[in-house]
Amino acid sequence: MLTVTPISRMRGTVNVPGDKSISHRAVMLGSLAEGTTIIRNFLHSQDCLSTVKCMQQLGAAVTIKDDGSVQIEGGGLEALAEPTDVLDAGNSGTTMRLLLGILATQPFFSVITGDASLRRRPMDRVGEPLKMMGATFLGRNNGKLAPIAVQGGNLKPISYRTPVASAQLKSSILLAALNTPGQTCVTEPAPSRDHTERMLRYFGASLHKEGLSTYLQGAPRLKGREVVVPGDISSAAFFMVAACIIPDSEILIKDVGINPLRTGIIDVLRSMGADITIHHPRTFSGEPVADIVVRTSSLHGTKVGGDLIPRLIDEIPVLAVAAAYADGNTIITDAAELKVKESNRIATMASELSSIGADVRELDDGLFIKGGQPIQGGICDSHGDHRIAMSLAIAGLSASGPVTIKNSECIDVSFPGFLEVLKTVSEG
Ligand code: S3P
Repeated sequence: MLTVTPISRMRGTVNVPGDKSISHRAVMLGSLAEGTTIIRNFLHSQDCLSTVKCMQQLGAAVTIKDDGSVQIEGGGLEALAEPTDVLDAGNSGTTMRLLLGILATQPFFSVITGDASLRRRPMDRVGEPLKMMGATFLGRNNGKLAPIAVQGGNLKPISYRTPVASAQLKSSILLAALNTPGQTCVTEPAPSRDHTERMLRYFGASLHKEGLSTYLQGAPRLKGREVVVPGDISSAAFFMVAACIIPDSEILIKDVGINPLRTGIIDVLRSMGADITIHHPRTFSGEPVADIVVRTSSLHGTKVGGDLIPRLIDEIPVLAVAAAYADGNTIITDAAELKVKESNRIATMASELSSIGADVRELDDGLFIKGGQPIQGGICDSHGDHRIAMSLAIAGLSASGPVTIKNSECIDVSFPGFLEVLKTVSEG
């Protein structure tokens, strides 16, 4: 349980931990590459540690060093071995879905499971294309839910249109395609984050894009490399919203990944009137990075939907907090995917923000937020969802009374040290 009391201003420099999506991918690709990979600024969160553990169980030589970096002695695409026990992805959808793509190509049997939340999330979206490629894929509820059992090997390339703009789904197919001779094509309904594509290229794979389609030539030899992970914009987003809504605030957030397929939160906050400036743009291991300055802003409501949604899918809970403190109404649509995240984020944000005083209503595919209602504080619940817990904590910083968040331990899933970082910039 966590209680957040209102603060009078937010000032100083924030260092957010490494990007979760990129940390997962670096461990997986480093394990499939040949030679040494060193990952710097790796995110030591529960989710990414689940990926490390699973890769170790598959025989990959992944070591966490004393300085926090991760070293991998990769043996190439064929070096993984049948695990002797069930793999556990914990709370991490990225671990499970991306690993299923890798497991589908391996000539052995494996079973993967996860915690109660992950065992409720749809896995048939990756099962369908992996079965088309030739893998045997079995799970509860007719292959929909984990635990999932896979017998892989000898796949054939496919051309596949994904029904949803999901980077986990696209990446799962690309990781299967990597170890499948021939060319695989994945076409998405809208662009989703392209970290897998960038990192595949960085490790030496031959990949090209045409519009919404990604083409990957299978069975290349990947070469181990140094990967420097940018700060996670999804973690930075909590501080961006906080600095906007708390009076007399100005923060500098250092070394944040600004991949254009992740910066929807900056675009939307700016369209609401936020004072956000980008400084010192540069590149870390094929990913754009910058420092971000955010100042107190008078926000107004907005409409968010369409192709913007995949560019800020994980930031919608904290965007709802910004909208609750803005003048006027905010309508978020085309976001039904939120129902199959770590919790049903449409339902949980509506109920929990309402319980501390905001006026938020559930829509079929999003949220309606009537901004400017007094947030008096009170007791709310994260429902075991890390992004809900942190979003509610940010709401508490500007409320008129304390906000108590039940089940807040899940914050460690993506942002260990969140409270400590928050304390360093909180005043009054
Ligand atoms: C992620 C993709 C997104 C995002 C998740 C991380 C990734 O999920 O919500 O937190 O690393 O590929 P979907 O692919 O299901 O949209």
